[in-house]
Amino acid sequence: MLTARRSGPLAGEARVPGDKSCSHRALILGAMAQGETEIEGLGESADVLATVDALRAFGRPVERIGAGRWRIAGGNWQSPDEPIDCGNSATTARLLVGAVAGMAGVTATFTGDPSLCARPMLRLVEPLRRMGADIDGVDRLPLTVRGVRLSGIEHDNEPPSAQVKAALLLAGLAAAAPVTIRERMPSRDHSEIMLREFGGPPLRGTTVRIGGDPSSAAFPLVAAAIVPGSDVRLSGMLANPLRLGLIRVLERMGADLALSNERRQSGEVIADIRVRHAPLTCCRVAAGEVPALIDEVPALAVACAFADGQSVIEGLGELRVKESDRLAGIASGLEACGVEARVVGDDLHIVGRGSVPGGASVSTGGDHRIAMAFLTLGLASEQPVSVDRDEMIATSFRGFVDTMRALGGDIR
Ligand code: S3P
Repeated sequence: MLTARRSGPLAGEARVPGDKSCSHRALILGAMAQGETEIEGLGESADVLATVDALRAFGRPVERIGAGRWRIAGGNWQSPDEPIDCGNSATTARLLVGAVAGMAGVTATFTGDPSLCARPMLRLVEPLRRMGADIDGVDRLPLTVRGVRLSGIEHDNEPPSAQVKAALLLAGLAAAAPVTIRERMPSRDHSEIMLREFGGPPLRGTTVRIGGDPSSAAFPLVAAAIVPGSDVRLSGMLANPLRLGLIRVLERMGADLALSNERRQSGEVIADIRVRHAPLTCCRVAAGEVPALIDEVPALAVACAFADGQSVIEGLGELRVKESDRLAGIASGLEACGVEARVVGDDLHIVGRGSVPGGASVSTGGDHRIAMAFLTLGLASEQPVSVDRDEMIATSFRGFVDTMRALGGDIR
């Protein structure tokens, strides 16, 4: 069990792992390409390591050559002897189901932990079947996929899911006709960018350099925004516009944020971010903004708890099918910490009064981002805040506690 206590100003440079979405994609595309791929800045979280293990089970050599530095020999995949255990990682499961669906002669069964086995898969299985995929199972893992040559598809990506888009694009790499995906609201476009970096199709091995994960940075960033006197820098951050929703909303709330040194690296925008404490006012977030901050809602909710006035975040239905029911988890955690919060349909209402009582033990539902969000809240609340579980923080951000402590956050 970890407890966060009210802390002095947070200061210094925070280091966050390489972006998780890009890390999965770099590994998978590297394993599908002809030739060798080197990755720098891979986020070595449990989710990403589930993809490493899976690719090894498919017979692809994947080697760690240094901190965050990995080498993959691409080529043909073999059918694994055992089911592929994707752990807690939906990105591993969904992207690999898509990739294998289009690989004639390769058969694999995918499973995961109880949380992942409860998450919807039909959104992916249904369009894959329309492409001709041979999949046993319906809407949940385990699923058995027998790779075949697929046809193309025109698909409306609804609800907008970057994982579904990525899976269909991977499935389509060897398909007989084009894969076209339409989106009402754009989801993150790392697959599109990285496919171009691999020159594909056909894919050729390359070097991929991955920027810091904005979804992990969300916690030190919000911590600095709510702890008086803070001044925190994050360098080499992935700054893809489709991932900057939290930063845009925090700016509207009055946060003192600055992006600098924007540059391109492996096709993605990279930047340095500086955040200093400033008083926050409440926000209204429209459903159309949600895909660009979908994984940052727990962190944003914490910022709203410290802001002045009633914040409304609309269109959060997808949070019910994340690693836990995050919509319920955020609202009940905030209530436990003395913050008025309620779910109205798919919207989250949070009444901020500038300060937060805290003094609670928050139930995380085994969800890494709920744990990190409430530990962040505890750095600025009047009384300490504990979380019931913390081992799963390694799912996405292994060094979270050390990073926050290095900035001056009291988490024990
Ligand atoms: C991801 C897409 C998002 C996000 C997840 C990672 C990806 O999920 O929540 O953490 O890497 O494509 P959805 O595609 O289900 O929205």
